[in-house]
Amino acid sequence: MRKPLVAGNWKMNGTSASNALLLGKILAQKNTFISAEVAIFPSAVYLQQVQMALQGSGLSWGTQNLSQFRQGAYTGEISAAMLKDFGCKYVLIGHSERRCLYAELDLDQNVLDNIVAEKYEMALSEGVTPILCIGETPEEHATGQTEEVVARLLDILINKNGAKALAQTVLAYEPVWAIGTGKSASPEWAQEVHSFMRERLAKHDPATAESIQILYGGSVKGDNAAPLFSMPDIDGGLVGGASLDAVEFVKICQAACS
Ligand code: 13P
Repeated sequence: MRKPLVAGNWKMNGTSASNALLLGKILAQKNTFISAEVAIFPSAVYLQQVQMALQGSGLSWGTQNLSQFRQGAYTGEISAAMLKDFGCKYVLIGHSERRCLYAELDLDQNVLDNIVAEKYEMALSEGVTPILCIGETPEEHATGQTEEVVARLLDILINKNGAKALAQTVLAYEPVWAIGTGKSASPEWAQEVHSFMRERLAKHDPATAESIQILYGGSVKGDNAAPLFSMPDIDGGLVGGASLDAVEFVKICQAACS
């Protein structure tokens, strides 16, 4: 039985004051979603604030990215050891906004997938659980390449570390066309992709395929979370915009419990 997980990716939002307010409202409702795991991903500058607020609450926290390097002259980067130092349970890796908007832009997709794989190894080496984001762009979606895109990264990870290593990992299917658009994938579409991912993994390691949590991300809101989470292979959500609104986010966490 897989425990549902709801991850709130705050992206580049928040101030000390607004974070305190938001966290207070979420924590006040935590008894209403005890059967789900909930994790918050603030901007890294607020990591300590979130750690202080959530420590001992049962909720977890992490960052939105990490370096593929262990330490040294990498200006602006965050190491896996630093995440561990701040009590992070999880880290987001390979988010499409990193892939599309930053240095990653000019890189070939395979090179990019390999960097994601290096970050994944780095996180695991410090005992931080990677949440690996995978999803097709609008163009790839329109040309029917979803399975190819999803399979490419999974295969790289399996070939590098073996399918067993994925047992300490969470996967997140985030179709780029659904992120921040208000247009979520339908539960049926998302279920089909999640089931494809699980089956691909099952060919290598059926036990890991059965136990791995696969989240859906892309315009998850309070009112579409329940139908998405009711699908057999959707184990929770990676939530952007709606995680900044306590009422919406709590509704999503509650939907993961039913
Ligand atoms: P939205 O929920 O705002 O679509 O963002 C999804 C996302 O990118 C979460 O990582």
